[in-house]
Amino acid sequence: MKLKLNINNRYYNANIDADESLLDVLRHLGFKSVKKGCDTGTCGVCSVLIDGEPILSCQFLAARAEGHKITTVEGLGEKADEIIDVIINEGADQCGYCGPALVLTTYAMKQELKNPTVEKINHYLAGNLCRCSGYEGQLRGIKKYMGVE
Ligand code: FES
Repeated sequence: MKLKLNINNRYYNANIDADESLLDVLRHLGFKSVKKGCDTGTCGVCSVLIDGEPILSCQFLAARAEGHKITTVEGLGEKADEIIDVIINEGADQCGYCGPALVLTTYAMKQELKNPTVEKINHYLAGNLCRCSGYEGQLRGIKKYMGVE
């Protein structure tokens, strides 16, 4: 089936199988920042935003994405750099595999949480797993970004 997808405010034509995940379609279109990890909805590395809300693209049929606004980390521009900088400043720039999804989820959290607390931040990020750290460096940076010390 043919789809027209709005990705980062540009339109892309895709010829997909009806059961194809948004994750696979995005990667075929060249958005390699969207990572494939567990492919079962557990690790969060495939997160993208649909109309500003984080979703797991491995669990989202590409066919459902038509008519919605898809954002990958490339679409955040300087806003992504701000988040990356606070994480790097805490010495937490590790392998980078979970990074794009973490940045997108942090960006969405900043839009959504009006009164962030450590508990709310931890809850919001609970679905984004990092396989190479204990999260502390990333969380220090993200808490600063959210204005929670
Ligand atoms: Fe989608 Fe792990 S690859 S949650």
